[in-house]
Amino acid sequence: MKGLKTVYICSECEYTSPKWLGKCPKCGAWNSFVEDVVSLEPQATAKKRVLADFGSSEVRPFSELDIPEYIRTATGLSELDRVLGGGLVCGSVVLLSGEPGIGKSTLLLQISDTLGKTRKVLYVSGEESEGQIKLRANRLKTAGKNLYMLTETNVEKILAATDKLKPEVIIVDSIQTMYTEQSNSTAGSVAQVKEATMSFIAKAKSEGISVILVGHVNKEGSIAGPKVLEHMVDAVLCFEGDRRQCYRIIRANKNRFGSTNEIGVFEMTDAGLREVPNPSEMLLADRPTDISGNCAVCTVEGTRPIVAEIQALVSPTSFPSPRRTSNGIDYTRTYLILAILEKRLGLRFSQNDVYLNVIGGLDLDEPAADLAIALALISSLTDTVIPDDLIAIGELGLSGECRGVANVSQRVKEAARLGFTKAVIPTRNFEHDKFECDIELIPIKNVYDVLKVIKNQPKK
Ligand SMILES: Nc1ncnc2c1ncn2[C@@H]1O[C@H](COP(=O)(O)OP(=O)(O)OP(=O)(O)O)[C@@H](O)[C@H]1O
Ligand SMILES: [Mg+2]
Ligand SMILES: [Zn+2]
Repeated sequence: MKGLKTVYICSECEYTSPKWLGKCPKCGAWNSFVEDVVSLEPQATAKKRVLADFGSSEVRPFSELDIPEYIRTATGLSELDRVLGGGLVCGSVVLLSGEPGIGKSTLLLQISDTLGKTRKVLYVSGEESEGQIKLRANRLKTAGKNLYMLTETNVEKILAATDKLKPEVIIVDSIQTMYTEQSNSTAGSVAQVKEATMSFIAKAKSEGISVILVGHVNKEGSIAGPKVLEHMVDAVLCFEGDRRQCYRIIRANKNRFGSTNEIGVFEMTDAGLREVPNPSEMLLADRPTDISGNCAVCTVEGTRPIVAEIQALVSPTSFPSPRRTSNGIDYTRTYLILAILEKRLGLRFSQNDVYLNVIGGLDLDEPAADLAIALALISSLTDTVIPDDLIAIGELGLSGECRGVANVSQRVKEAARLGFTKAVIPTRNFEHDKFECDIELIPIKNVYDVLKVIKNQPKK
């Protein structure tokens, strides 16, 4: 085409090069270049646009600034509201990302139904036909009051439709299918995704409309498009889970209006996503009993204690260097705990492959899970069963000491509620915390005490 040229753009920092490069000379990212088409004529209009109009541009003393009152709307799914920080904020832009088929469109159609009770919702789809959406809506039993549909990918046309309809919430499924006339690049390219997002953010901020953008993820699991996308929006929510299993977890990677620790748990059913207010019960549902290598732990996600089970499999290796695989547990943490057990207890993991897994696809990024990981590992190595009604909470230090962790009484309480009768906890918490539940507490000072827990158990 005349007036256009092909360039390669780094999807991390937007460095532009006339030829493809393996490594970005600006930000150092590998394999980050994607092909794009740009106009040879400079685009004056694109440069002039601003992200958001925040009202005044005067210099004001800090002490005189007003505290904004965020107006939040409940989405009807309290699990999602919790992750958002208490509901969808007016004028905010939320990016919802997730693997294909995880249920992004399903979630958004479900919430547009509830949002529709109080707000006018425009659902823009660039991926599915009206018929497909209607079919899904029927399956989800969406009433669709105050819900308007638009199948369109042209941002200018969408914004024009918005000016006419005056919705209070706009859902864009997905941002990668949108294109704006401001840029000559192809839909889905770095430049287009960025420009389209900017247009929606500008609309949201200037008119107080809440915008939810669906974002695809690429092979590596990050959001397809420029990294700046995540900086531009107010909140980035990730919808995760194993597609073959039915539960889904939603977490905030970024949130300007709430904490990022909270998670929301859902179950995918024929009738759509169902909230799981008691994730522990779900996670423990099919747990194997009376078998070595398992230990329960209670982690705290945001304000909620969640009991999960750690599984370890330690088996003699047939490789020159033994394998270490962990699912849901940080690699370095795994190596660290293995090293502590080798050094302090003289346990031989070096001739064994070690597989670790957290049941239910939960990510345990808390050191409070150390003790349970250690117990699961020793249990598998020695073929000793850890009682099913025992839960372990505590962090391990490099000298083998068991360090205190936060919220132990809250964790123990949740375990007691679920029927656990013994809790292995750090001595420090045992001595300093107040416990008001009916559970046997076993204080642990160091990794040597861990052996005592294991010692009197049957072999399996
Ligand atoms: N009866 C059903 N018919 C179709 N899908 C169903 C049904 N019951 C459950 N599902 C679930 O709905 C999922 C599709 O959800 P959805 O279309 O919302 O995903 P998505 O994240 O929007 O995917 P994409 O990235 O392709 O747009 C399926 O993967 C399946 O797990
Ligand atoms: Mg979809
Ligand atoms: Zn770069």
